[in-house]
Amino acid sequence: MGAPFVEITHSEEFSASHRLHNARWTAAKNRRIYGICNNLHGHNYAVQVTVRGTLDSSSGMVMNLTDLMTAMRARLIDPVDHKSLDRDVPFLRGKVTTAENVVVAFWTELEPALRKFKTCRLHRIRLYESRNNFVDYLGPDPSI
Ligand code: NI
Repeated sequence: MGAPFVEITHSEEFSASHRLHNARWTAAKNRRIYGICNNLHGHNYAVQVTVRGTLDSSSGMVMNLTDLMTAMRARLIDPVDHKSLDRDVPFLRGKVTTAENVVVAFWTELEPALRKFKTCRLHRIRLYESRNNFVDYLGPDPSI
């Protein structure tokens, strides 16, 4: 039997403002598609990153959760916390800042920072836009 395969998750929170607006659409179409989300507003977001891998029998860890926290804060939280997602965040420039687009951009930012941890890999990023709404992203090819 192989080593146990375990998922670990770290959560962080951030606050940011945004509005849903597609610059290629008319004001009327933006209003129709996005409704009140076309108005400038803010959210208290939460982001949960799950890494999966084999349990190291010596350390008893899949990955040091402090390393995951450090990578998340540097790559994800610091660039967006108390910012305008539409104006202030280079990796969101030109994107409509839906939770779906933000979570995909988060993956692109974070995944390279985790490659050095050879015994595990990024499995899922979950982004809560509110208590009631969250989105999951499992990467460009979740089958591998
Ligand atoms: Ni919103």
